Amino acid sequence: MVQAAVMGYGVVGSGVVEVIMEHSDSIKRRTKEGIEVKYILDIRDFPDSPFPEKFTKSFEDILNDDEVKVVAEVMGGVNPAYDFTRKLLESGKSVVTSNKELVATKGAELLRIAKEHNVNYLFEASVGGGIPIIRPLSQCLAANDVIEVAGILNGTTNFILTKMIRENMSFEDALAMAQKLGYAERNPAADVEGHDAGRKISILASLVYGKHVYPDYVHTQGITKITLQDVAYASAWGGVIKLIGQVKRLDDGKLDITVEPMFISGDSQLSGVDDVFNGILVKGDATGDVVFYGKGAGKLPTASAVVADMMDCVKHLQKRKYLEWTDGDADVVKPYNETSYAAYYRVSGMISEDQMLKMAEECFGEVKPIALSGAKPSETAFCTGEMVVADQEKAAAKLEESGIEILSKIRIADL
Ligand code: HSE
Repeated sequence: MVQAAVMGYGVVGSGVVEVIMEHSDSIKRRTKEGIEVKYILDIRDFPDSPFPEKFTKSFEDILNDDEVKVVAEVMGGVNPAYDFTRKLLESGKSVVTSNKELVATKGAELLRIAKEHNVNYLFEASVGGGIPIIRPLSQCLAANDVIEVAGILNGTTNFILTKMIRENMSFEDALAMAQKLGYAERNPAADVEGHDAGRKISILASLVYGKHVYPDYVHTQGITKITLQDVAYASAWGGVIKLIGQVKRLDDGKLDITVEPMFISGDSQLSGVDDVFNGILVKGDATGDVVFYGKGAGKLPTASAVVADMMDCVKHLQKRKYLEWTDGDADVVKPYNETSYAAYYRVSGMISEDQMLKMAEECFGEVKPIALSGAKPSETAFCTGEMVVADQEKAAAKLEESGIEILSKIRIADL
């Protein structure tokens, strides 16, 4: 049996221990060796646990035990996870993680340290929960030039949007339900403000394009400003609103990378991805579109990916899995206001709808109105053609100068 440790006994950590114990026979069959959890690190007490002897509050117990070859870091957050991971890799132990914040901020460095010490640092669970996406991108699709990756990467916000759309549930109630089900981050602002999805698209972009794309480089906007009125206009337009993480390589070689709510056409494969499910669309030059779909959050889906990485480490104790990217800088990313897309605007004014649309055309060029039965009399909505963001902003400022208030602006996806 290969001895292992689990750092963090929260939702995911307890799931990891459960999966290892309940699947011990099949894990043994598939890895030849089997995995035994020797330590569980957590600062909290678990007096009712059936295996109290495994718990420790001391990281050094794990670090200094030469029998421990594989460690699952499922603590979350950058500190102390970063320090612990670095020390473990330097001491020749492989580490697997679901910690997207750590991978997104320190991935290039930790992968380099792993390489220097001939061990593995694997993070399948960091993106898409139980959906296989890191391995497919780094192995199965490796022969492609990846043109674009776009997806619904946050289960909590997708759950909230689905509840708002389908059940007219308030944002707060839907968030509370997502927290209760173990989907949300410790600080759910990371979900609803888009930072969690930003970390995930930054990991996917780094993996695909080979340079670390730090979350700070990703234009990030959450779902807190989405209203039921916008949801109704999206439906009248022929689609839904989803929080999308997207990266694509532009003709000048720079990356257009963003996380923001988008109008998704009902024809898109991503439009039917609801509840806690995630969907990730990869456009390869050889494969065309490939879509990955499954539960993007939750105890057992995420634990499944963590344990699969532990098994991979056990099978490759003396070998490295090829997985790396080099450090990157802000230059790899196109500034957001230089990118271009079509957008939906919802506006309000003290003039007729026809007059508002006429003024919108004077500012934005040709626009397409969205007809919504039962719309408020002082409001209307329209879609622009594809425009550079800086030009959209100038046009929007001009419209507002003429006394029309902009209530919402949402990107229209080209997916
Ligand atoms: N809070 C995250 C989500 C958990 O809702 O997707 C999985 O990364």
